Amino acid sequence: MRLKIALLSGDGIGPEVVSQAVKCLRSVGETFGHSFTFTSAPVGAEAIKIDGNPLPDATIKNCRDSDAILFGAIGALEYDNDPNARVRPEQGLLKLRKELDLFANIRPVKVFHILIPGSPLKENIIKGTDFVIFRELTSGIYFSEKKLSEDGTHASDLCEYSEWEISRIAHMAFKAAKKRKKKLTLVDKANVLETSRLWRRVVMGIAKSYPEVQLECLFVDKAAIEMILNPSQFDVILTDNMFGDILNDQASVLLGSTGILPSASIGTDNAMFEPVHGSFPQAKGKNIANPVASILSVALLLQHFGMEDESNAVVSAVLKSFNKKVVTSDIMGSSKYGTNYVGDYIADNIVDSDDNLSINDENVWLGKSTII
Ligand code: IPM
Ligand code: MN
Repeated sequence: MRLKIALLSGDGIGPEVVSQAVKCLRSVGETFGHSFTFTSAPVGAEAIKIDGNPLPDATIKNCRDSDAILFGAIGALEYDNDPNARVRPEQGLLKLRKELDLFANIRPVKVFHILIPGSPLKENIIKGTDFVIFRELTSGIYFSEKKLSEDGTHASDLCEYSEWEISRIAHMAFKAAKKRKKKLTLVDKANVLETSRLWRRVVMGIAKSYPEVQLECLFVDKAAIEMILNPSQFDVILTDNMFGDILNDQASVLLGSTGILPSASIGTDNAMFEPVHGSFPQAKGKNIANPVASILSVALLLQHFGMEDESNAVVSAVLKSFNKKVVTSDIMGSSKYGTNYVGDYIADNIVDSDDNLSINDENVWLGKSTII
């Protein structure tokens, strides 16, 4: 297979972790006989430095001309500390999602044994956790009308959804649930919000086409509690943009390290893959960032294009690095391995071998999961 991949490394540790992901893709290319070509384009604070625009038109064009995007991270301290900044790196990411219509954000949350001691939850609670969050990404309160009165004393953010916006991501989520544990939890606030009632009506209607999938509806406040008390009850969680933003982050800390979680943002014509963690500016250039989230984003990318063996080979190589304790210090405080070494180790261990698929049962975590 030939794929053109746009690298939007962005800010902070973004470039360091994306470099490790690229090493792994090159290794997959050589091992399995695929041709991956790469182009780079600026986004975020890096792009603002060049011409004041967090998402230059040339970057959007580059993304449109590519088959997939590998994204690093955006954000820089100078903007975080200045609430009055008119141009912000985050605007680049939001615009990119909207321009490319990346309407479904997908995050697998599966526990790895090596991380259990670092989890804020007790082992018997976190054990067996394996769910996927489908967050709607291009609509709702993020993108509906915003107003600020002229005197600056009154503001509003509208939250709008249409049936088709709900239905297209709902179908994706149901299809994923069908391949997994066959349970879908719709998270909303239907006791208060009209948009949530629309979500319920639409999703309940669609559920009839997926009789094998059990649908459950949960208010978001209750869902937040359940995710802490009993995370292993979930299989596929479907939710809107705002609730998804919050639950995604809550889910990401359950596992004991945000440094390992990948995500995919899928549209009809484009797909972007990125680590869940942010730009961590304090770690920039220090060779301490964990490259695994970015590398597992590569596994999601490969799976998205139907390359299951290739995707499993990447996951297996990551699991080998865990088993051999070749990890960065966020996972094991005493570790002396840096970003580059871990990246090299994982890339070097990507092999095309059936034996490789039986390292342990964790390696099917992506195979079972999400991407349609
Ligand atoms: C995320 C981030 C973004 C969001 C920010 C950076 C705009 O928090 O990807 O979850 O809120 O969607
Ligand atoms: Mn967020």
